[in-house]
Amino acid sequence: MNSKNLKEKILNKKAKICIVGLGYVGLPLVVEFAESGYNVTGIDTSKDKISRLLKGQSYIEDVKSSAVNLIIKAGKFHPTSEYGTVKNQDAIIICVPTPLRKTREPDLSYIVDAADEVVKYLSRDTLVILESTSYPGTTRDILLDKIEKKGFRGGVDAFVAFSPERVDPGNERFGIRNTPKVVGGIDKKSLNLAKTLYSQVVDRVVTVNSCEEAEMVKLLENTYRAVNIGLINEMTMLCSKFDLDIWNVIRAASTKPYGFMAFYPGPGLGGHCIPVDPQFLSWKAKSNLFYPRFIDHAEEINTSMPNYVAKKVITTLNRMKKSVNGSKILIMGVSYKKNVGDTRESPSFEVAQILKQLKAQLSYSDPYVASFEGIKRVPHSNINFRNFDCVLVITDHEKFDYKKMVREARAVVDCRGVTLDLKGKAKIVRI
Ligand SMILES: NC(=O)c1ccc[n+]([C@@H]2O[C@H](COP(=O)([O-])OP(=O)(O)OC[C@H]3O[C@@H](n4cnc5c(N)ncnc54)[C@H](O)[C@@H]3O)[C@@H](O)[C@H]2O)c1
Repeated sequence: MNSKNLKEKILNKKAKICIVGLGYVGLPLVVEFAESGYNVTGIDTSKDKISRLLKGQSYIEDVKSSAVNLIIKAGKFHPTSEYGTVKNQDAIIICVPTPLRKTREPDLSYIVDAADEVVKYLSRDTLVILESTSYPGTTRDILLDKIEKKGFRGGVDAFVAFSPERVDPGNERFGIRNTPKVVGGIDKKSLNLAKTLYSQVVDRVVTVNSCEEAEMVKLLENTYRAVNIGLINEMTMLCSKFDLDIWNVIRAASTKPYGFMAFYPGPGLGGHCIPVDPQFLSWKAKSNLFYPRFIDHAEEINTSMPNYVAKKVITTLNRMKKSVNGSKILIMGVSYKKNVGDTRESPSFEVAQILKQLKAQLSYSDPYVASFEGIKRVPHSNINFRNFDCVLVITDHEKFDYKKMVREARAVVDCRGVTLDLKGKAKIVRI
């Protein structure tokens, strides 16, 4: 078989597809390919995830259990922890985590482990795509290198590409199909095959000149967000000095029909992408003796936000002649973004830690997060806001009743602008 045959197999849906890493990125991809008629194998090292999937259960909010159940029952999806299944596959897509180490250096160990296992069982004429976010050069230096060490020539015996994932958890408007997909290959044949594969499940595939360009696209997208959030967070602190409400300023600036894009302040960056990806780029840049100042400055501002928020709580209580020590504080929303339960890198951890150290009596409410730092959970429906000295809105889930909150609470510190058009007896402080 050669690349032509593989292309035909993809086009007539005979190609067997394997997704490695069944998390926020991998599982939706499985469903999309399986629903499009492909036979999909999913590999994950988490035995717990595999056993839930085999029972037709989803653990990702954006993927319905009914969808998993359907493709399992139809025999279109085969979840497993066994890498041996790789030898029968035609296309393999790797979606494993790429976190930072404690030292803020990229941790590529998941990619290395997954690539080692995939390559061990890889057959000739297979397309291998990396989707995990990493710095430019990762696909070639790690994945292709391992494939070539096995004796397969890239672009001849094996086809290799990178395609960044753009999934936005909780976004009901944009999903896999209507979000354009960027693809870069190690050569033309690999690019062509990867484009053909994704075209089966995505409306628009955008090709770039190399896998390095594709890797850089993702980092540019997320660095752009991190830097602009850093800018707006800095403006927030500045507006606070001038006693101006940044939320009103942004609202008015947003009426300009061109040249302005609104970013909003918040308690700090969270999730697996925006706080992490720019650091991959920064690390790689520094190892090439280039010092990216915007990234580092934005990082400094964004990581200072939990302290800034805690200070807002302290001054709010102070104006009420109360100390944080002993005050009852309710944290509303602890996940890193609204309407999802993902708490990875959420700034809520640091805010809670600071307030705990100051001996506040903390409670939290989050419809999506069952436990948080051993803090008492308050059900989100029908909260008695009168029970608290201060309510701190960290994450703006739509399920919360903000009107009731401003009606009943004594004081509200609002990190998300949810109180902008609301009036009540609560003393409202927006960051
Ligand atoms: N979550 C997002 O919103 C998002 C968006 C765009 C890009 N990304 C990127 O996509 C990649 C995956 O992120 P995610 O959010 O899906 O992570 P995740 O932690 O939700 O899922 C990764 C899965 O990989 C599994 N895994 C780990 N090592 C493995 C191995 N060696 N073999 C097989 N499975 C293994 C884990 O058990 C887990 O289920 C990361 O590089 C991330 O930066 C994530």
